[in-house]
Amino acid sequence: MNDPSTELTWGAQLKWGVERLQGTVTTTPKLDASVLLAHVLDVPRTLLIGFPEREISDADAARYSALISRRVDGEPVAYLTGHKEFMGIDLMVDARVLVPRPETELVVEAALRVLEERLGEPPDNANDTLDAPVPELLVADIGTGSGAIAIALAVLEPRIKQIYATDISPDALIVARHNGDRHHVTDRVNWLEGDLLESLEIPVDLIIANLPYVADNPDDIMPEVRRYEPHIALFGADGGLGHIERLIAQIPSHLRSGGAVVLEFGYNQHASLAAALAAAFPQARITFGKDYAGWDRYVVIQC
Ligand SMILES: C[S@@+](CC[C@H](N)C(=O)[O-])C[C@H]1O[C@@H](n2cnc3c(N)ncnc32)[C@H](O)[C@@H]1O
Repeated sequence: MNDPSTELTWGAQLKWGVERLQGTVTTTPKLDASVLLAHVLDVPRTLLIGFPEREISDADAARYSALISRRVDGEPVAYLTGHKEFMGIDLMVDARVLVPRPETELVVEAALRVLEERLGEPPDNANDTLDAPVPELLVADIGTGSGAIAIALAVLEPRIKQIYATDISPDALIVARHNGDRHHVTDRVNWLEGDLLESLEIPVDLIIANLPYVADNPDDIMPEVRRYEPHIALFGADGGLGHIERLIAQIPSHLRSGGAVVLEFGYNQHASLAAALAAAFPQARITFGKDYAGWDRYVVIQC
């Protein structure tokens, strides 16, 4: 509960929220408090700094206080606001889907580079006819969750003709479809329910996947992530890499010749995955990429 002695101004409420979040699960108390206050007030976050003396109603102060308490308990900010920005795109998120992570943006950027290598640089002029979808270019996003990867690729690479976005979770697909509608990509993204590649009826040029890869081991996951995010999105089979290994086995029958695969994986899985990939794709060009902390976290396989 908010301290009733806290002044009902934006500045005082912000300061109170930051103090309440200090020393809790969050490493960004200032950011979190300002995102939550701006969400409650329905104003851009930048306004909070400029107008600390503005007043907040009792009702809004109570809503803000409740959100701060949930954040103290470890609930992700994105579930509290219902939104997460991914590659500059606003996505609706809730407890049915994993909160898209910044490192997954690096995976999408790697996929965009692969596509650019194949198609050439996108034309400067968005109205250029070259910008129209290339008839053949097909992509599959496996384990789409909120739809983050599929929607980002559809928005950022208009030359992709069709993206097949699959998930085994019907709940996640409801969220993904909603996000697809909001970003007007429904005509180019097919949302498919199924296990890995099973719902994919034709081979594609690029397979991209951020599948669950965490081992169900307390050391490998923060308690608040385990508590709030869907376990079906987090835990990989067989000690972590089970889903990815099963996907690798299915790839040859679902990838067109000359196609590519981009996979995200866990910070401690590079060696096992490198061995599995070398055995499965002896002729392929395999390139690992790092996350912001310097860990190998994704791999590009060019067949
Ligand atoms: C780590 S989340 C990634 C979500 C999203 N692609 C992202 O990057 O934010 C993994 C997703 O894979 C889905 N999933 C789990 N097992 C699956 C399977 N066997 N086949 C397809 N999708 C699966 C989960 O439901 C979850 O949405």
